[in-house]
Amino acid sequence: MTNKNFKDFQIKIDFNNMMKDFVGEKEGFSSEEIFSNKKITSKAFNYVKENRGTGMMGWTELPYNQSEIVKDIIETAKAIRKNADNFVVLGIGGSALGPTAVFQALCHLRHNELKKSVRKAPKLYVEDNVDPERMNALLDVLDLDKTVFNVITKSGATSETMSQYLIIMDILKKRYGEKASEHMIATTSESKGNLIKIAKKEGLKTFYIPDGVGGRFSELCPVGLLPAAVLGIDIKGLLKGAAYMDKLCKKNDVRKNPALLTALLEYLAMNKGKNISVMMPYADSLKYVADWYCQLWGESLGKAEDNNGNLIFAGQTPVKALGVTDQHSQIQLYREGPFDKVITIIAVENFRSDVTISNGCEEFPDVSFLSGHTMGELINTERRATEYALTTANRLNYTIILPEVNAFTIGQRLYMFEMETAYCGAMLNINTFNQPGVEGGKNATYALFGRRGYEETKKEMDNAPKKKEEFFC
Ligand code: PA5
Repeated sequence: MTNKNFKDFQIKIDFNNMMKDFVGEKEGFSSEEIFSNKKITSKAFNYVKENRGTGMMGWTELPYNQSEIVKDIIETAKAIRKNADNFVVLGIGGSALGPTAVFQALCHLRHNELKKSVRKAPKLYVEDNVDPERMNALLDVLDLDKTVFNVITKSGATSETMSQYLIIMDILKKRYGEKASEHMIATTSESKGNLIKIAKKEGLKTFYIPDGVGGRFSELCPVGLLPAAVLGIDIKGLLKGAAYMDKLCKKNDVRKNPALLTALLEYLAMNKGKNISVMMPYADSLKYVADWYCQLWGESLGKAEDNNGNLIFAGQTPVKALGVTDQHSQIQLYREGPFDKVITIIAVENFRSDVTISNGCEEFPDVSFLSGHTMGELINTERRATEYALTTANRLNYTIILPEVNAFTIGQRLYMFEMETAYCGAMLNINTFNQPGVEGGKNATYALFGRRGYEETKKEMDNAPKKKEEFFC
């Protein structure tokens, strides 16, 4: 792709079905509410403009400030691709969902099952849980001689990730002695946490997560770029897509700034009691982009207090759905259940490959009408049918259109979601970039496992009301 045709791959938004003209007076919005809502949009726009690149908004600069790091990542990835058959990410939350989303979006959909000669890159495993059966299953399938692990944790302290690290490093040391470090790469904060100290002591190759980049905003730094490069994904293309979207997001005009527009749509929907945000891609390749979105949206906007200390219990519950699969499980609810949702559909105009539906069953016209069409046509027709069905039932929905799934459009999409989240947080007047609720759970685990420094939390937990026998059955 050349700079010339960037515009051909620009993401588009169809928000007709958020408007009164289509979903009716009661549910929909007027043009004025969308286009003249300067008080809300300018406040959010200016907040982002003034804070970009500072504090926890370091992620806005990732499309521009990583040329040396990208060089190192590409060189490191080249060596891994040559020597390894498996690349295993040990991480959770923002350190796992981004790599998974980009893997699913930009690699062959059966990558790990392809022969090495076809896949031309290691298999990828993203281990984001501490289920013992899963760890044993992983160890059953890995040939350690051909495996490189990438432990990723910004804080360098997350129990799940560090316990995985301890298990794997012990196995590697027993097997390879001093050479164990050749099988482990650490991606972490340069200035904080234990992992950086451990990595230095063990002599691990290290990549850094910049201070101003939180876990869920980290896909476009080494957290996501190294696994992607190992898979042979065009990481420069991802960053170009992000930079392209950033350019659009520098316009203080909802007609031209897609993230500002979608943030406003969601914000207005929230104010109408739409407490659930459904993300429904009509493409298997984007299935895990919806997962990644759920963390970004839920963890960023789910906040008890606003910036003035008022209790507001903000946020929308993000729900992932897959078109067309979930048409056969969830659409009944979305169309006829409570009016508490806004549904974002992600459409792909051109699939990277297509399949024609074969002839046959001519004596059954109710089956043979499908013949001759392609599956790409069918999935997009079903998407349009779902949009229609939702709209005629007065359900708010809008569609994000990707001309194609490629590194450039995925870079745009990820960056647009991040910007949308930042704008929406500013509209809600909350701290978008902290996660006290997540820390709460982390701290309780540390306390229960007797970690030093968490004695008070342990005492509090010991004094909490005990579970009653009568409520078990
Ligand atoms: O967005 C966040 O900050 C969190 O969800 C983290 O990604 C998650 O808790 C993992 O944290 P860490 O990268 O410190 O291991």
